[in-house]
Amino acid sequence: MSQLDLVIIGSGPGGYVAAIKAAQLGLKVALVEKDQSLGGTCLNIGCIPSKALLHSTEVWHHARDSKKHGIVGADKLTFDVSALMANKDKVVGQLNKGVEFLVTKRGVEVVRGLGRLGKPGEVLVRSSAGERILNTKNILIATGSVPIELPFMKFDGETVISSDHGIALKSVPEKMVVVGAGAIGLELGSVWSRLGSQVTVVEMLTTIGGPSYDADIAKAAQTALEKQGIKFELGTKVTGVKKSAAGFALTAERDGKVLEFPADKILVAVGRKANTTGLGAAEAGLKLDERGRVVIDGHFLTNLPGVYAIGDVVAGPMLAHKAEEEGVAVAENIAGKHGHVNYAVIPGVIYTDPEVASVGISEAEAKAKNIEIKIGKFQLSGNGRAIATDGTAGMIKVIACAKSDKVLGVQMVAKGASEMIAAACAHMEYGGSAEDVARTCFAHPTVSESFKEAAMAVSKMSIHSL
Ligand code: NAI
Repeated sequence: MSQLDLVIIGSGPGGYVAAIKAAQLGLKVALVEKDQSLGGTCLNIGCIPSKALLHSTEVWHHARDSKKHGIVGADKLTFDVSALMANKDKVVGQLNKGVEFLVTKRGVEVVRGLGRLGKPGEVLVRSSAGERILNTKNILIATGSVPIELPFMKFDGETVISSDHGIALKSVPEKMVVVGAGAIGLELGSVWSRLGSQVTVVEMLTTIGGPSYDADIAKAAQTALEKQGIKFELGTKVTGVKKSAAGFALTAERDGKVLEFPADKILVAVGRKANTTGLGAAEAGLKLDERGRVVIDGHFLTNLPGVYAIGDVVAGPMLAHKAEEEGVAVAENIAGKHGHVNYAVIPGVIYTDPEVASVGISEAEAKAKNIEIKIGKFQLSGNGRAIATDGTAGMIKVIACAKSDKVLGVQMVAKGASEMIAAACAHMEYGGSAEDVARTCFAHPTVSESFKEAAMAVSKMSIHSL
């Protein structure tokens, strides 16, 4: 093969989006993937399958709870886990084909095998067919991340499991203990809890959802999830796993007290780490930071000339859409354009019911940075659409600059927050103020009117709350 312009290692949302963008800009591109299916963690074992499972179990939950809507016989319904998994696999399969179709139609060559950095300008691809050398002007590392394993509680795929296993269980565990109340723990905890598992989430911090959410937002989410039957053990440090007569138990510590949580499955969701396995980073002299992430400059360039990196394998939030934005920007840079990512406006969503979403800075972060702010809040219990659709659990909060009124952050706990947060992102991307949001016409009745009300509340002018 003649020299390529760009070889991308890893076909997740960062890698395949970069491939499409680079091909659109006229570059000759190869996309290297070690797995048979394209799409990486997000499509195959992350965002997409978990959303399919969350959707199916939400349908089940609504069906069971449908008596007040006039549906008779809901108490006789049963659930088939294998059908749920088959539906999830179908969704994933459809999207695998979609990504392959899109990249190949754009003229990107897909090369299957494990990609490794070779001599400068070379990527070596090892597969069952042997080793192939790709000569290229530029290389993009988009190899993603893998679950973090607790050293004293290794994944065995049976009792101690990661999200990789948690999206593919064959039956509903009677008792599931989830370690970590981040996005993965709350989403997969919700899935199995809805199907009847007694779920206990053990978290070392005193709030759920991670540090980007303010305590009032985290508490609103926690209350809603507790109502659904999920138990939270916060401020609790996990110490190990113990075999007992009745099965297994997670051992933990809180305020000097030793605690035990019986479980037949322990889902460990304490974060993910950069994946550089098999990349030949050390041999090539690729610089990694203290957490094993590839070090890049402001233009995604590593310490090696012509070698770039994006997505979960570099610093920053491990989010598919952050990787996609970086994929577009790096392709533009390589093509001689001026790619840019606005890291101040990257939304985060936890797809529970209600969903939890945020963008920009939190109230706590603003205070820590001595930024003078005004806050507007609106409880969904005051929203007509929320009342009509069983969606009153939650609230929306707008954080605005006290001087300029510019929206600095938005946090939400609401059904549909994952879609509503896009409106907040658009306002923030254009530098909008709370008054700009307040003066925008939102359709009635919609839950999103609560965002407008929260923006009006920044200047204490909410119409539908006091
Ligand atoms: P996370 O970093 O979001 O949350 C991990 C939680 O575990 C934190 O609250 C942390 O305090 C806690 N923790 C850490 N060590 C612990 C210990 N020893 N005992 C008890 N608690 C402990 O990580 P998570 O949920 O595993 O997700 C990994 C990455 O994937 C994150 O960056 C996340 O944003 C991303 N992701 C995003 C999703 C989304 O956007 N909806 C869905 C799934 C994952």
